[in-house]
Amino acid sequence: MTFNKITGAVLQQIKAIVGEKFVYTANDDLEKYSHDETEDLHYYPEVAARAQNTKQVSALMKLCNENHIPVTPRGAGTGLAGGALPVYGGLIISMENFNNIIDIDERNLQATVEPGVITEVFMNAVEEKGLLYPVDPASKGSCFIGGNMANCSGGPRVVKYGTIREYVLNFEVVLPNGNVIWTGANTLKYASGYNLTQLLIGSEGTLGIITKIVVKLIPKPTQNVLMLASFNTNEQACGAVSAIFRAGVIPSALEFMERRGVEWVVEHDGISFDIKPGIEAYLLIEVDGTNQDVIFGECEKINMVLEEFECQDVLFADSSAQKEELWTMRRTMAVSVKSNSVYKEEDTVVPRAELPKLIKGIKEAGAKYGFESVCYGHAGDGNLHVNIIKAGMSDDDWNNKLKLGITEIFELTVALGGTISGEHGIGLVQKDYMPLKYSDINLNLMRGIKAVFDPNGILNPGKIF
Ligand code: LAC
Ligand code: ZN
Repeated sequence: MTFNKITGAVLQQIKAIVGEKFVYTANDDLEKYSHDETEDLHYYPEVAARAQNTKQVSALMKLCNENHIPVTPRGAGTGLAGGALPVYGGLIISMENFNNIIDIDERNLQATVEPGVITEVFMNAVEEKGLLYPVDPASKGSCFIGGNMANCSGGPRVVKYGTIREYVLNFEVVLPNGNVIWTGANTLKYASGYNLTQLLIGSEGTLGIITKIVVKLIPKPTQNVLMLASFNTNEQACGAVSAIFRAGVIPSALEFMERRGVEWVVEHDGISFDIKPGIEAYLLIEVDGTNQDVIFGECEKINMVLEEFECQDVLFADSSAQKEELWTMRRTMAVSVKSNSVYKEEDTVVPRAELPKLIKGIKEAGAKYGFESVCYGHAGDGNLHVNIIKAGMSDDDWNNKLKLGITEIFELTVALGGTISGEHGIGLVQKDYMPLKYSDINLNLMRGIKAVFDPNGILNPGKIF
């Protein structure tokens, strides 16, 4: 792909559009826009601009489209697939200033929000009104809701409440040529042609820049129970997962954590937790609702399943502080792993009953190629985050064998009916693996869609395929 550099004249126009104080060109200022949370990758943009409204985003897009300058939209930079990295330089449009909750419509159980609102800030605002926006990625305290949409981010509660796709009704979007459209309607149903709203979700900033979001809300459950079950083997823990659903319970979270992940969180975050000898894996299970008796009944059913899978111990969190601590343990695992070793994170997802085969295959690939792995994730969704650890591996092996091992894990994932990312996206770092999942026919359909939206290929180039 060939693009033009940002000339002095174009820079002047960028400044005229957003105001000089929101345009950054110095290396020190650009550093924070040069990376996201993906490994240790850095790509510097030529210029970063913080737009403040849709009109400015539109003018920036029009300018860059006419001048063939690559544009990378950016939320909070918490992505794990390099989706926000400006690999061709060019302009970063940061959405940090889009941080207003425009309206919480309690009559319709909907809200209109700007994309730069921190997800947890939005969740808390609707909770104050007794409502729930349940899409809570592990990074909810720092990620932006717009980035969640662009990435199709998940989180623990997807298992009961559904993915982010079920909570988006309508987007205001700026297209690569600067045109501004609303993609759908503020309705729960939509049978009015191709659903562009859904197409934009998970498009990773390659089709348009989301500037307003209308989301669906639901009533907030009032009670929950949280338990931590420990197992002697990964496969027993993974086997219990699908059995819980077969017993008639849909937990509001069902998370898997391998022992090593828990050990690292304890070391890294100073959480006090007694890791018993012989335990290889944990399931963190939450059940929520509005009726305590119903919840207890469901916990009984879960306990019976856990026994069948030789669960060693079940810890019930008996205070909100303890619940908070167990959730912190789970939510900070990615950060703890990152701080512990050079690593590569994969985001495998399979139909949940196939989880035992997946985890067995991951460990077999590790033994074959000489790497260790720490797995954790949203087991209820069949979604395992596989953290491959460099540890004692030589640089040569890391550079040469890792890809073979990942390929084998992804081949198994696809063979089990799954795919190569459940919620982290493809971005930059997974795109080489797309042919393991998709034929040229699929990929060409995607390329065709991209070309319709962005004939000059300027919006977030180098991503997905
Ligand atoms: C998590 C992120 C890494 O589940 O998706 O912790
Ligand atoms: Zn996750």
